[in-house]
This record gives sequence, structure tokens and C-alpha cells, in this order.
Amino acid sequence: MFVSTLAYTAALLGVTALARPAQRSAPNLKFEISLDEGIINGTSVDGHIQLLLAPAGTDPLEDTDVTSSPNFFFGQNVYSFGTGAPVTLSGGNGVDTEKGVYGFPNVSISEVVPGEYSVQAFMNVYETVTRADGSTVSVRFPCGDGAPGVGGYGTPITSLVNITVTGQEQTVKLVFNNVTESEEFTGSEIGGCQQGNYEDTEYLKYVKIRSDVLSAWWGRDVFVGANVLLPFGYDANNTEKRYPVVYSQGHWPGEQGAFRYPAYLQGEFASAWDNGTIPATNVSEARETPKLILVTFRHENAFYDDSYAVNSANLGPWGDAINDELIPYLDTTFNTIPEPYARIQEGGSTGGWESAANIIFRPDLFGAAFSSYPDSMDFHKHQDIALYTNKNAYVNDDGTPIASIRAFENGTETVLATVQQENHWELTFGTNTRSIGGQWDVWNAVFGVQGVNGYPLVPWDKVSGEIYPGAVEYWKHMDLADYVTSNWDNELNLGEVLKHRIFVYVGTEDDYFLNEGVAQFQGRVEAKGGSDWANFTYIEGKGHGGRYNLLDPWVYLELLETWVQDHSPEGKTPLTASLTAPTSRGNKFEDVMAYGGFQAALARQAPPEIIEGNIATSGRWDPGVVLQAQWIVNGKPFGYTFSVDQECGVAFSGAKSGCSLQISVTGTKRGYVTETRVSNIVTIS
Ligand SMILES: *[C@@H]1O[C@H](CO)[C@@H](O)[C@H](O)[C@H]1NC(C)=O
Ligand SMILES: *[C@@H]1O[C@H](CO)[C@@H](O)[C@H](O)[C@H]1NC(C)=O
Ligand SMILES: *[C@@H]1O[C@H](CO)[C@@H](O)[C@H](O)[C@H]1NC(C)=O
Ligand SMILES: *[C@@H]1O[C@H](CO)[C@@H](O)[C@H](O)[C@H]1NC(C)=O
Ligand SMILES: *[C@@H]1O[C@H](CO)[C@@H](O)[C@H](O)[C@H]1NC(C)=O
Ligand SMILES: *[C@@H]1O[C@H](CO)[C@@H](O)[C@H](O)[C@H]1NC(C)=O
Ligand SMILES: *[C@@H]1O[C@H](CO)[C@@H](O)[C@H](O)[C@H]1NC(C)=O
Ligand SMILES: *[C@@H]1O[C@H](CO)[C@@H](O)[C@H](O)[C@H]1NC(C)=O
Ligand SMILES: *[C@@H]1O[C@H](CO)[C@@H](O)[C@H](O)[C@H]1NC(C)=O
Repeated sequence: MFVSTLAYTAALLGVTALARPAQRSAPNLKFEISLDEGIINGTSVDGHIQLLLAPAGTDPLEDTDVTSSPNFFFGQNVYSFGTGAPVTLSGGNGVDTEKGVYGFPNVSISEVVPGEYSVQAFMNVYETVTRADGSTVSVRFPCGDGAPGVGGYGTPITSLVNITVTGQEQTVKLVFNNVTESEEFTGSEIGGCQQGNYEDTEYLKYVKIRSDVLSAWWGRDVFVGANVLLPFGYDANNTEKRYPVVYSQGHWPGEQGAFRYPAYLQGEFASAWDNGTIPATNVSEARETPKLILVTFRHENAFYDDSYAVNSANLGPWGDAINDELIPYLDTTFNTIPEPYARIQEGGSTGGWESAANIIFRPDLFGAAFSSYPDSMDFHKHQDIALYTNKNAYVNDDGTPIASIRAFENGTETVLATVQQENHWELTFGTNTRSIGGQWDVWNAVFGVQGVNGYPLVPWDKVSGEIYPGAVEYWKHMDLADYVTSNWDNELNLGEVLKHRIFVYVGTEDDYFLNEGVAQFQGRVEAKGGSDWANFTYIEGKGHGGRYNLLDPWVYLELLETWVQDHSPEGKTPLTASLTAPTSRGNKFEDVMAYGGFQAALARQAPPEIIEGNIATSGRWDPGVVLQAQWIVNGKPFGYTFSVDQECGVAFSGAKSGCSLQISVTGTKRGYVTETRVSNIVTIS
């Protein structure tokens, strides 16, 4: 560590600018990071180093949020990193994000503003797995801590040190000499570094099972858990008395129950729940608490704190693990009513999308969804991005930046972060969609298919924002509006089956523009089904958050209870067998894989081909691969290399008939190994 006393004093006095011309950058700053013995398992690892520079005297993890963090963030992948040789982080050009440094808010380490910093490095250690479809990826599996993007359980860390960045030639040495423990991680393990089960209370029970389908697909043990809140008076031995279940979706709950019970409601809800009486302060007169079982899921994974509760080509069969393994297990363990009419899906934000997706994909299993401010239900507006028509995800065609987070004050909108800022910030935490906590990255993983590199086929370049329409096209099966309307009156019969089973609430000033996707979805389903097909509530002036329709929790639970009663066999409008037929089921994992798995990615590829004497195709490549071609005449390169478009062929002219002709095409893309493919050889006529 190099500390310049002069610079330190000057900075303390705030007179750096007076003492000498202000230095705005540190072009010769390097960080040399080495690894102590005993920190990693084995001799070397692949992983991603995260280097955080925070204002002097602050913990770099204190605030890592894109909207407010004062940190400089830098990331760099490491390959076969061991105790033998340190790795040096310097510069960063925004081009080679696989081998070089990528930073936020400044791309390059050379752009760090000289001054005092507290510095620490973290390393996400990757495990390389080959999945059942043949793709090999290196990812970090979480350890019962909700899958944070940085500093999760078991992360190698360097000591936190104070440094002065001088702006002169400077090498800061850091050593990975310790491994984090997580405060969150208090559960007792079952079968590996997976979220443990917490200690049961009288009403809150913790369940975890090894998922056969996920473990088979990932080629390693994968577990899925549930937190089950039982109603007052529940008697495990009385299997005659059975209860409807509310499945509450969204984010890793840790030890908490549905609706983040008890912490979310500061214990008040909890004490009334456990007492069995809603106090008169909350309803007109004291009455019994609703008799429902409330379930929430623990499904942290290699991409996010939650799997989005559907089957996807990049995360695997999480929908099946939850719906066809865990829920049947809950039905045999607890006294549930194991019928669709008695199963409600609900949740907000991530959980809003999940609850909607689960009724839409599994009307055979669930009765209704109460979805609050869901992630985009229609990708005509993916937040505020016109994904199907824009050329770029960061700027509109007229050059205006696209906002991601906004706040309103007195009706005036302020942008807190743009889509570009969030994506660049995510990229420092991991390349190839591996930021883990990153919202845009997990959407890319859940909504997209696999690229031929095994990682998610991104809808746009993470650095430039250039949209790849060919990749976006694959999102359509996760575009809920597209899915519902295109299966409206075929054998899935969703127009009839889903009628009156979807309830959506969103605020008109949603912080993440999610009201726009809801409005798109509403427009498309109502165009087919009329204005009462689903139930939409927009609350004027409301931002992101709150319970469904801002109802008191008791009133909300009673609304769900009433829905179940009304749709029971004895109710006013029973949910008939034809509305829960297995033929309406969607998002089947075999279909997801056939469409978007690794074999589908391989089948998408083709070498260039000379098709008519002198006309060549450029072959078939993944969307976003940039191509350079070279003619080969009589076995030798002929002329210059030139760029070719994926869609358009090229014609050759300039050599005598009788010579042999071939074309070689080289494809490059961020996150892909550069590949050269050659065509057939023909004789020039
Ligand atoms: C080393 O392996 C143990 C046992 O599998 C695991 O708990 C621990 O997290 C691993 N450490 C690292 C740094 O990967
Ligand atoms: C770093 O500097 C802060 C003051 O800016 C001080 O409180 C802290 O003890 C220092 N830490 C180390 C490890 O020297
Ligand atoms: C570094 O980022 C900050 C914040 O975005 C910006 O104001 C500054 O100009 C950048 N510095 C350089 C050298 O690019
Ligand atoms: C390593 O981290 C643990 C907490 O995770 C801490 O108790 C211990 O003091 C640290 N060791 C060193 C050498 O910093
Ligand atoms: C349920 O039955 C088991 C034995 O079958 C007994 O140990 C337990 O106390 C019973 N629980 C209640 C709540 O009656
Ligand atoms: C119950 O009512 C009190 C007083 O109006 C309110 O502060 C509290 O948030 C309510 N709690 C629940 C769980 O509805
Ligand atoms: C619940 O609490 C109320 C008042 O706090 C009390 O009168 C009532 O007996 C309690 N009910 C049960 C079932 O414990
Ligand atoms: C919004 O209105 C409040 C009350 O009228 C005022 O105190 C506040 O400064 C206003 N904020 C802005 C950004 O205008
Ligand atoms: C929509 O559902 C809410 C309950 O969530 C209900 O109060 C309202 O009447 C419904 N609206 C229509 C038009 O059916």
C-alpha cells in the first residue's frame, strides 16, 4: 500500500485543486491481486474478481446500489487463477470484457479520480458444470444466502485497505486472504451448500427437498424450499380438516414467510395470525383470521435470488421442481385442499410476473392469480424499452436515453437510473449474464434461450445496447400477452380457460415503468376477450409496491378466501374440470428445451456455403455475431478480408474459371470464442 502524506493532507483540507492542477485520472494505476494458500479448494479456479473502491473510511459493501453508490466498481474474469501468479487489473477498454477490466461508472481503472479510497476485492468462484442438454457453463451456485452478486457466503476476499490514488505510476497489491461468512446463513444444511432449513415455529414450517429434475439437468444437487405458514387451529392429525393454499411469489424470503411475515408486518400481523383473531382496529369488528395456508418459496440459483418459478432454457426446470415436485410434497405433508380452485398465486414485481405466468402456464394446477405491479407482461414495453421495434435498448431512435428507475415528486418525474447505467453496473459483477443479482441479467436468462456458447442469448449487447432482433424473437414464448393471444382458441383454449382468473394491480407511476407492460397486455387480451376477460386496476399516482389494490392484509386474505369459496364445487361459480384440463398446460420443459436449449442452439448454426458458382452465403450464426470473410482461391487467401452481413450473401468476381473457390468466415461476439468456418470448395466456371 502506497500512501502519499502530502496528497492525504491536501485532500483533508480540500485544497488539492489549489496545490496543483487537478488530476482527473490515474492512467498508470494497477492492482496486483494474489491468492493465499488455503483460500480456494484445489489448486486454481475460474471466477470473477470484483474490485470496489469506496470513499475513504467506508465499507464498499455498505452501498452498492446503482442509484446511490459512491463506489467505483471494476470486474475482471480470471481463468485458472491459483497461488502461483498474481493477476493484474489495469485499464479497461470496454471491448474485451471477457479477459479485460470493465468498470462502472467509469469503464477503465485509468479513469479513477485521484484521492483517498477504501479498497476491497471479492471473487465469485465458478463451478463448471455440463448440463443434461450438453452445454457447459461456469457459474457460481449460491449457499443459502439469497445469492448476492458480491460477497456471498464462501467468497474469497482481500482485507479492506485505505489507499491514496496519486495519479502517478502506482501498483496496489491486494491478497485474497480470507473467505466471507454470511450472517444470513444460519440454517442447518441438508446435502451440500444449499439454503438450509430454519427452525420451525408453531405456525411457520420450513421444508426443503432435493429436486430430481433440477439435479438431473444441472448435473449436481439442486434443492428447492418452501416456508409454510399454517392457520390458527391447524391440527396436523386432523386430515379431514383441509385448507386452501396461497402461493406467494417473489424473491428469496430467507426465514420469513409469505408476505414477508413476520418482519414485513412488524409482528402485528404475526401476533394476530397466531392468536386467530383479527383485532377490531383492522376490521369493523374483531373476527377470526382467514383459514388459509400461506406458502412462499426458496429458489435461489446461479443467476438470481429467485428462479422466476417457470421452466427456462438457462435456469432449467424450476417450474416443474416447484409445481410438480415441491407442491405435491407439500400436499402430502400438510392438510391442503389439493385442487386447482383452492390454489391461489399471488405476488408483486418479480412475484407479480411469476404469479401471472403460473396461472397462464398452469391453469391445470392453480385457480387464479392476483398479480401486483408485475415485471413486463408484454415485451412491446420491457419496462420502458420498445423491445420489438427499437434499435437500441439504451437510447431511443431520437437519441433520448431510456430510463429504468424513476421517482415522482409533485407530479414531476426524475430519472434515478437509466437502462444503460444499470446494465453497465451489472456487467462489473459478472460477464455473460452472471451478475447474479442483476435484474436485466436474470430477465435475459429467464426470457431468452441459450446461446451456442451455453450462456443466455442476449437480446442486446451489454456495452452498446444494440438490440439483436433475432434474439428478441426467441423471447416471444415468455411474452405473456403473445403467449395467451396466440394460444387463445387452439387446443390450449386459453381464451376460455383463463377468463376471469387473472387480477392485476399496478400504479400509474410505477418506479420501473411496469404499468406500461400491463397496459400492453391489457390491450391485447381485451382486443380478443373483451373488457371483463381479466381484471386490471391502475392506481393513480402510485409508485412500485404495496399489497394488491393496496388492501389491508386481512381484507386481501379474505378476498382470496372468498375467491376460493366462490369457485369451490359448492360455490357460486365452480371451477369446472374443463377449465383445469391438462391440455391447457404450457411451458413444458421438453418444449422449452426443444426451442431454446443447447441442441437448438447447435441446430441454428451452419457454415458458409458457395451455392451458385460464385455466390456465397455467410452461414448461420447466433444473432449479434459480427462476421469477417475472406475468399480463398486455389487454397490461398485472395484479396482483403471484408465484413459480411449474416442475412446477405456475397458474390465473387476476379479470378479465372477453372480455379478453385472457397470462402472463410470468422465470427466474433462478446462472450463467444472467435470462430472461423469455411465453406465447400467449388470450381469457378
Ligand atoms: C470449498 O468446498 C467446501 C465443501 O464443498 C465448500 O463449502 C466451500 O464453500 C468451498 N470453498 C470455496 C472458496 O469455494
Ligand atoms: C481507513 O481510514 C479511515 C478513515 O478514513 C479509518 O477510520 C480506518 O481505520 C482506516 N482503515 C484502515 C484499515 O487503516
Ligand atoms: C467517470 O465517471 C463520472 C461519472 O459518470 C464522469 O463524470 C467522469 O467524467 C468520468 N471520468 C472519465 C475520465 O471518463
Ligand atoms: C476472516 O473473516 C472472519 C469473518 O468472516 C473473521 O472473523 C476473521 O478475523 C478474518 N480473518 C482475517 C485474517 O482477516
Ligand atoms: C398427533 O399425533 C401424534 C401421534 O400420532 C402425537 O404425538 C401428537 O401429539 C398429535 N398432535 C396433536 C396436535 O394432537
Ligand atoms: C392494524 O391496524 C392498525 C391500526 O389501524 C394498523 O397500524 C396496522 O398496520 C394494521 N395491521 C394490519 C396487519 O393490518
Ligand atoms: C386473542 O387476543 C385477544 C385480545 O388480545 C383475546 O381476548 C383472545 O382471547 C385471544 N384469542 C386467542 C384464541 O388466544
Ligand atoms: C413538492 O411539494 C412540497 C410541498 O408543497 C414541497 O415542499 C417540495 O419542495 C416540492 N418538491 C419539488 C421537487 O418541487
Ligand atoms: C376486480 O377485482 C376486484 C377485486 O380484486 C373487485 O373488487 C372489482 O369489482 C373487480 N372489477 C371488476 C370490473 O370486476
